[in-house]
Amino acid sequence: MITTLSCLHNSHVFMRIILMYRLLYQFQSVAGGILVDVSCGSGLFSRKFASSGAYSSVIALDFSENMLRQCYDYIKQEETPMNTNLALVRADILRLPFASCSIDAIHAGAAIHCWPSPSNAIAEISRVLKPGGVFVATTFLSTPTNSGLFSIDALKPLRQIVGPVNSSYNFFIEGELEDLCRSCGLVNYSSKVQRSFIMFSRQKP
Ligand SMILES: C[S@@+](CC[C@H](N)C(=O)[O-])C[C@H]1O[C@@H](n2cnc3c(N)ncnc32)[C@H](O)[C@@H]1O
Repeated sequence: MITTLSCLHNSHVFMRIILMYRLLYQFQSVAGGILVDVSCGSGLFSRKFASSGAYSSVIALDFSENMLRQCYDYIKQEETPMNTNLALVRADILRLPFASCSIDAIHAGAAIHCWPSPSNAIAEISRVLKPGGVFVATTFLSTPTNSGLFSIDALKPLRQIVGPVNSSYNFFIEGELEDLCRSCGLVNYSSKVQRSFIMFSRQKP
């Protein structure tokens, strides 16, 4: 039992390391710039971005004061000091407190499905990104188990009218995510899908 749990833990840690390498790779064209980790939660990725030393500043941003407090506590516990400036900011994804065209990189880890209005949020992300700036996000795709009846192809148009199927989460199919980004003026879509988990990146032209 203990061996099984330890294997599960190790594979989880391994997956996170792979994910982090992929993220750093996606952001390599904006290395040295300002990175905002929106909806950072407890700052798992913000802390890794900061300690990578690849960015001039890392901003961990979340709407929830509790999550930011957890993030702050984890930062204090870190054994290795952060190589870059790491700032914590409380803000709504729909009203980012940054000037237009001022940010080089935005990461949204496992967050889009939690946002109240993903299309307005991505428009806001597009506003603050500099030309050439990169947006990388991970989320869970719509599946029959998380989207109920509206995951059936013939009923999907109804989802646009009725709104999210349950009150708290918005799950999309890959084409919808691509369309959302395109309609906000972001280009160069690329993605990697593993089961229902997707990582995609987009750039501001
Ligand atoms: C599943 S957590 C993701 C945490 C983190 N990115 C990670 O990968 O560990 C989703 C986060 O979205 C945040 N969130 C939800 N609505 C938000 C909003 N309107 N603006 C900013 N953050 C929001 C929540 O507070 C929560 O911390």
